[in-house]
Amino acid sequence: MKITVIGSGYVGTTTALVLADLGHEVISYDVDKLKIKRLNDAILPFSEPGLDRLLQKLLQSGRIIFSSDSQTAITQSEMLMISVGTPSTSSGNADLTYIQQVLEVIATHINGPKIIITKSTVPIGTNRWMKQQLEAKIDTNKYPIEVVSNPEFLREGSALHDSYHPSRTVIGGEEHSAIEKVKQIYSSLGTSYFTCNYETAEMIKYASNGFLAVKISYINEIARLADLVGADIEGVAAGMGMDPRISPHHLYAGIGYGGSCFPKDVDELLYLAKQKKINLGLLKQGKRINDSQIAWFVQKIESHLSLEGKRILVLGVAFKEDTDDQRESPGVRLIEHLLDKGVDEIRVIDPTVTSLEQIHWSKNLNNNDSQRVNIFTKEDEAAIGVHAVVLTTTWSQFATYPWADWVTKVESPYLFDGRNFLNPQEMQHYGWNYVGVARSVLK
Ligand code: NAD
Ligand code: UGA
Repeated sequence: MKITVIGSGYVGTTTALVLADLGHEVISYDVDKLKIKRLNDAILPFSEPGLDRLLQKLLQSGRIIFSSDSQTAITQSEMLMISVGTPSTSSGNADLTYIQQVLEVIATHINGPKIIITKSTVPIGTNRWMKQQLEAKIDTNKYPIEVVSNPEFLREGSALHDSYHPSRTVIGGEEHSAIEKVKQIYSSLGTSYFTCNYETAEMIKYASNGFLAVKISYINEIARLADLVGADIEGVAAGMGMDPRISPHHLYAGIGYGGSCFPKDVDELLYLAKQKKINLGLLKQGKRINDSQIAWFVQKIESHLSLEGKRILVLGVAFKEDTDDQRESPGVRLIEHLLDKGVDEIRVIDPTVTSLEQIHWSKNLNNNDSQRVNIFTKEDEAAIGVHAVVLTTTWSQFATYPWADWVTKVESPYLFDGRNFLNPQEMQHYGWNYVGVARSVLK
């Protein structure tokens, strides 16, 4: 099938490459010309395991082209899959500016029947609104259009695995034939389909992310209590997760969730609830717990070490491992908290960061603040003279850092593990004063 994927970001590029790999003829279109140039040069504009190799392979196959030409994008394919960003506005609702731009471009260049597939996460009601917008702009007797909701569930860091092995494929629409055509796109994947109306499909996406966010906040809240009563949260989560009704997934306590989706999708749900004048108290509380989890952890650090004037090494600024994405990153927010506490120097190591300019702060840092942050690209010297090491992201390489050597070079051997990632016994054996999130096995 001929498919144009509109928006070549994390989701769009992954989807376009996977669809080409499945045998489709794909155009990956983006307004960002530099991004398109880099993709055509076989350079991935972001970091995602395995995707660079797939990009090289498929560019050679000729089954994918990357283009910033809107006319080519719209006219050459019957299937137009939208994966542009839908970030939060300051009021919390999803900003549909990019979706609106895409509708304009489709209306301008339409040259035949089109199925418009919405992969972007869009508020409940958007697909129906999109259809109405297009019908108002296009002579649909001449150029029939159908809009189909097809939300994406991949995770960054495992985007390829998730795309080849989707947990389910949700398709929301009104026209049986359009739904069947969208199913055909994925026919070689052997996925389970769930078909429904637009609103149900849109709500499945938001309710899934909201549920996972609340699940993380739940275990984090239990961790706060576990910490006070001597229960080990890792054991608690493992024991709970053995119940298939609970499952062990997304049950890891830490410094909270971040990323480009959980925070914004929770905000959109809360915004919608406010519009509809109902109180989503559980979701609201889940967000509150997450918003205060870093402060809770910093307080925990302070109960061991006064932070003012100290040198701290922070491991990780990506919002999770195996990605360079820092949107709503807990690691970045933690650094900002430490700066507010008067820390003298913060050293940062993240495999995707080589300069200070690559850190996406969540607020404007003044000169004094940014001068206190230094990026280290090699681990050998990073720990010399620091008063504490704080781990915020579970990059696998952090586990094999020279912990035994580092402990001999630090000013004081505090190791605060914000993700319960390292082996506490091993770290204690080396001589670290290891503090995790409610890891009472040590007491
Ligand atoms: P992104 O910011 O990485 O990519 C969006 C791309 O769209 C950018 O390259 C941008 O230049 C492009 N764009 C903007 N306006 C455009 C236009 N008018 N025409 C063509 N291209 C345009 O975003 P993302 O992380 O890939 O997320 C995309 C959507 O998918 C969002 O709605 C998000 O909620 C959803 N989603 C994301 C993930 C994820 O893990 N990142 C997972 C599931 C769903
Ligand atoms: C999440 C969902 O898992 C995807 O299904 C969804 O498609 C995507 O959002 C989206 O809509 O964009 P992602 O944000 O890439 O995927 O990553 P997750 O693995 O879900 O992690 C999100 C955040 O939660 C990270 O900061 C992670 O460190 C944190 N987390 C995750 C925990 O604190 N504990 C856990 O047990 C799991």
